[in-house]
Amino acid sequence: MRILLFGASGLLGSFLAPYLAQAGHEVIAFRRRSDVPSDAPGLEMQFADAIGQARAQAIVNLIALTQVDACEDDLAKASLLNAQVPEMLSRHAAGAPGCFVLHISTDHLYGTPGPHPEEDFHPLNVYALTKYHGEFPVLERGGCVLRTNFFGRSRAAARASLSDWILNEVAKGAPVPVFDDVRFSPLGLHSLSRTIEAVLARRLAGLFNAGSAQQGVSKAEFAALLCGHLGLVDARLEPRSIERLALRAPRPRDMRMRSARLADALAWPIPDIHEEIEHEYPATH
Ligand SMILES: NC(=O)c1ccc[n+]([C@@H]2O[C@H](COP(=O)([O-])OP(=O)(O)OC[C@H]3O[C@@H](n4cnc5c(N)ncnc54)[C@H](OP(=O)(O)O)[C@@H]3O)[C@@H](O)[C@H]2O)c1
Repeated sequence: MRILLFGASGLLGSFLAPYLAQAGHEVIAFRRRSDVPSDAPGLEMQFADAIGQARAQAIVNLIALTQVDACEDDLAKASLLNAQVPEMLSRHAAGAPGCFVLHISTDHLYGTPGPHPEEDFHPLNVYALTKYHGEFPVLERGGCVLRTNFFGRSRAAARASLSDWILNEVAKGAPVPVFDDVRFSPLGLHSLSRTIEAVLARRLAGLFNAGSAQQGVSKAEFAALLCGHLGLVDARLEPRSIERLALRAPRPRDMRMRSARLADALAWPIPDIHEEIEHEYPATH
């Protein structure tokens, strides 16, 4: 399949691009032109050119402003990247024959106690609200939206995943503050990439949670499982409440997802978090 990938330089994109290429797909990474402004008209013109030239069977959109506090500080940029970009991409893709759109959204838009089915949403901050608005245009044009969260070894020089950050802090011998009152149900980068490939192959339309088992873990439990799996007995994990941090944007405490709809559609089991950690960090001996 010929796949046009937007956001290929980011945390997920830098893993997904080689993953899809190794699986035999032709991956075309969208690159922004430095001589064109990154405002709405400039981006739209570049998207139209890229989609027109690529003649892709599928588009995957990973472009986003993912820094939660930066979204709070710059509503215009958050709205452009998280909401308008998916609208532009899905609109131009609709004019390209046979072009299917897969857009990545987030578990961050769940703001009430979980685990959450897809119908739930309660955005608590600008990041969540703008990501929510970016889903509609994709869905109404017959595309797929995956709400997800993920961990694993980043291949993007400037972007560390949660698990990278934990392991880097442990390696420094420093105390590692980990939240015991924020729960989630992430996938590893390998499973998420495999899921994306399966969705593209089936042209699976609709809104889906893409996470591990719904009981989930707190971020403190995740850090302990990861360090335990890797035999890091000296890790100085310090569980604490997120309330001790003075964060500009309010954060959801329970992002756990029910992913049964996706598991049913793909006819495969939902992995639990232990399997995901083992899969992402396989034993070396
Ligand atoms: N990271 C997480 O833990 C997480 C959790 C849940 C969901 N998600 C979702 O997963 C998706 C991918 O996240 P990620 O962590 O891989 O994001 P990321 O590392 O922040 O990468 C964002 C991408 O957007 C591109 N981008 C930024 N500004 C742009 C602009 N003006 N024009 C064109 N491209 C621009 C970046 O390209 P440049 O490098 O050129 O700036 C980069 O490729 C997002 O939809 C995010 O909401 C992420």
